[in-house]
Amino acid sequence: MRAAHEMTAPVPLPGASVAFDVHRVREDFPLLRQQVHGQPLAYLDNAATSQKPQAVIDTLTRYYGEENSNVHRGVHLLSERATEAYEAARANVRRFLNAADTREIIFVRGTTEGINLVAQSYGRASITAGDEIIISWMEHHSNIVPWQMLCEEKGAVLRVVPINDHGEALLDEYERLLNPRTKFVALVHVSNALGTVLPLRQFLDLARARGITTLVDGAQAVPHQQVDVQELGCDFYAFSGHKMYGPTGIGVLYGRERILGQMPPWQGGGEMILSVSFTGTTYNHLPHRFEAGTPNIAGAIGLGAAIEYLEAIGIDRIGRHEQDLLQYATARLEDIPGLTLVGTAPEKSSLVSFTVAGIHPHDLGTVLDAEGIAVRTGHHCAMPVMEYFGVPATTRASFGLYNTRAEIDALHAALIQAIRMLR
Ligand SMILES: Cc1ncc(COP(=O)(O)O)c(C=O)c1O
Repeated sequence: MRAAHEMTAPVPLPGASVAFDVHRVREDFPLLRQQVHGQPLAYLDNAATSQKPQAVIDTLTRYYGEENSNVHRGVHLLSERATEAYEAARANVRRFLNAADTREIIFVRGTTEGINLVAQSYGRASITAGDEIIISWMEHHSNIVPWQMLCEEKGAVLRVVPINDHGEALLDEYERLLNPRTKFVALVHVSNALGTVLPLRQFLDLARARGITTLVDGAQAVPHQQVDVQELGCDFYAFSGHKMYGPTGIGVLYGRERILGQMPPWQGGGEMILSVSFTGTTYNHLPHRFEAGTPNIAGAIGLGAAIEYLEAIGIDRIGRHEQDLLQYATARLEDIPGLTLVGTAPEKSSLVSFTVAGIHPHDLGTVLDAEGIAVRTGHHCAMPVMEYFGVPATTRASFGLYNTRAEIDALHAALIQAIRMLR
């Protein structure tokens, strides 16, 4: 077993070029072996949070069992090791996103905190009365509320890109919204409520051509597809560790160094300073200026291990497997009378959101749970999406790298049974 601080670039699994062996992958996830209500668990709630592979669990256990210490502060061996492991995790994230430099990688609690950091630091310093901020109709609340709060404080205006009945954001409407007052664009990469994958390049290029700063909410993208922040050309990109097989309480904000370097700190405390006296404080260099206090050291190291795990399997292979699941699930569910898919964009990530006529999603979810099938029901923290489609809630099955067609068959059978029971 390697020590946590010895993380290096992953070696592809011997099978990286051969077919994806989902049964082999499932063995890496101890939680999946259990039964729920006497049924084998079918965990189809990956968009909410994903399960953790043994490699991540081992990394956390080893860190706390053998290496735990505070970072950046001590000269003793354990502190040096913890610092090395923490910074190695940052290097993993840099590679994973193809960011230009580790100074551009800020560890945060998750996507929500990453977006709030940008709104509170960049936003408060740069947005003034009358400025406009653009988001889309399909944002998660975490990419709506921080901008609403900022607009309220500054007298700025929030503009929303409309969507169509497939759940696609309308590029031409977005282009019409862009104007000299537009100062910021914040867009979701993949919608958690609909599965839509935004054609981000097109959206971001239009903003960049006008010198507008951009942020991408990548919470639902990074577990499923390769993300290259330099190729995308965004200024900020935020994601959460727990949705990509890493621990909870850790996430990443990527920021372009040129912009981060000019942003004021958003939280004050230890770690983010170079010197403090009662006459003034000198702030630390990037990225530490934005990591006040003792960070989630174990979480960051665990995230580094999750990245290595994904890279060793190959994110493209994972994506292909999940696309197969998406197509299979879509075909099976479309067959069920009274079931309506919510979100039918041609470019979708691996989730299906749906309603069944005459049955409340919560009732459906409860019956599915009794069959061992874990799905999410509700508004998915995307109330404007529910409003657009005229529904209070949907049922959502979201797939990860360890899901199988057999689990989708089980979902299908349980849905048929639930509909018979609840109608
Ligand atoms: C698209 C999207 N953005 C942001 C978030 C918020 O992530 P977190 O709660 O990990 O901060 C989620 C979580 O479901 C999400 O799906």
